[in-house]
Amino acid sequence: MTFVIKQPKTEDEFKRYYHLRWKLLRAPWNQPEGSEIDELEDQCFHLMAVDEDEIIGVARLQFNSSDEAQIRYMAVANGHEKKGIGRALVTVIEARAKTSRHDKIILHAREPAIGFYQKLGYEIIEKSYLLFGEIQHFKMMKACTTK
Ligand SMILES: CC(C)(COP(=O)(O)OP(=O)(O)OC[C@H]1O[C@@H](n2cnc3c(N)ncnc32)[C@H](O)[C@@H]1OP(=O)(O)O)[C@@H](O)C(=O)NCCC(=O)NCCS
Repeated sequence: MTFVIKQPKTEDEFKRYYHLRWKLLRAPWNQPEGSEIDELEDQCFHLMAVDEDEIIGVARLQFNSSDEAQIRYMAVANGHEKKGIGRALVTVIEARAKTSRHDKIILHAREPAIGFYQKLGYEIIEKSYLLFGEIQHFKMMKACTTK
C-alpha cells in the first residue's frame, strides 16, 4: 500500500486528524469528542499518515524538557495495522526529536502496544497509570543519541 507521512497544516486536516485520534483512542471508552485534545497541542509536533485523502494514522511529539520528548496519541486506523505505518510515524518523530537535541524519548504505552514499541527499540521503565480505570500503561524509553 502507499501512504505518506506529513504534518497536518490546514484547519480541515487538523479537524480530521483530531477526529481519528478521538475515534481510535477515546470513543471506544465512551469519551466525548473534544476529550482527545489537551492544552499542549499548540506546542507539539503533529504527524499523520495519509492514504489518498484518508488519514489512517496519527501521532504527536511533545517536548517535556530541553532533552526529553514524549510520544503521545499514537494510533493507526483499524484495518491498516501491521503495514509499517506506525513504524514510519515513529521514524519521522524520532528524526524531529533529534533535530532539537531531544535525545531521550519517553512514552506511556498501552499494554497491547508494548511489543510494537519494543520492536522499535523502546524499553519498559515501569508500570505507569491506569486510564479510564482499565487501560494499563507502561512507561517506556529510548535514547536516540546514535545514528
Ligand atoms: C500499536 C500501533 C500504533 C502499531 O502500529 P502499526 O502500524 O500496526 O505497526 P507497524 O506495522 O509499523 O509495526 C512495526 C513492527 O512492530 C510489530 N508490531 C506492530 N504492532 C505490534 C503489537 N501490538 N505487538 C507486537 N508487535 C507489533 C509489527 O509486526 C512490525 O514488526 P516487523 O517490522 O518485524 O514486521 C497500532 O497497532 C495501533 O494504533 N494500535 C491501537 C492503538 C494503540 O494502542 N496505540 C498506542 C497507544 S500507546
